[in-house]
Amino acid sequence: MNLIIFGPPGAGKGTQSNNIVNDFDLKQVSTGDLLRNEIKLQTDLGKKIESTINNGELVSDDVVNTLIEKIILDPNNFNRLIFDGYPRTLSQVYSLDKFLKKLNQKISIVFSLNVDKDIISKRINGRIICAKCFRIFNVYFNLPNSKNHDCGKKYLKKRNDDHSKTILNRFETYVTKTNPILDYYKKEESLCEIDGNQNIDEIYNKIKGILANIRD
Ligand code: AP5
Ligand code: MG
Repeated sequence: MNLIIFGPPGAGKGTQSNNIVNDFDLKQVSTGDLLRNEIKLQTDLGKKIESTINNGELVSDDVVNTLIEKIILDPNNFNRLIFDGYPRTLSQVYSLDKFLKKLNQKISIVFSLNVDKDIISKRINGRIICAKCFRIFNVYFNLPNSKNHDCGKKYLKKRNDDHSKTILNRFETYVTKTNPILDYYKKEESLCEIDGNQNIDEIYNKIKGILANIRD
């Protein structure tokens, strides 16, 4: 099965994708992680998109669709992708459909994590990520410890776009450009709305129960 994890910045898309990967034979594809990696490697693309990401705006559909198409075409990923942070515009929705149809695949379910704005802000302000293993932690809600992380403290960092001004822009971009695509998935009857204000385990238990009953 292929699935989408949808939601505003800080909703828990990456956190829940990591949980799913641990229990199901699926692979997470986070466009945010792919783009940040281009910046880290200072590729031509990375240099072009750095300011866009740090301003909380969307990278162009062409760039993102090209990255995603390559991943979908890889036979190792056949029918086992978790799309985290993609699609974010209607143009991306149509491209995703086109790429999947070419290979006789589809999206089985779209989990939409609904989270209140004040909670989002606290989650993003408290986020730390490991630059080595890419695990996501939080100084308020999900501290790294010897049981869940063994790379060492020196790899734990804040994201460059996790600052107050950028957070507001990212949220605005989500409301105006991304949230409207939910109507498309409602019409397709693949949308599953989840209360994302709950704690990480409560949310994951719901997701896990639903995925256990999907058979494609
Ligand atoms: P991206 O990296 O996708 O950022 P985002 O959408 O803003 O989402 P986040 O990664 O901030 O949040 P998340 O939902 O993954 O939450 P997380 O699990 O980390 O994109 C970054 C940028 O790249 C975009 O702004 C754009 O510029 C560009 N981009 C990316 N995709 C694009 C696309 N398709 N098209 C164009 N441009 C694109 O959790 C957040 C924190 O909360 C963590 O600390 C976590 O530990 C904690 N937490 C999680 N769940 C809970 C919970 N239930 N309770 C308490 N704490 C929790
Ligand atoms: Mg994320």
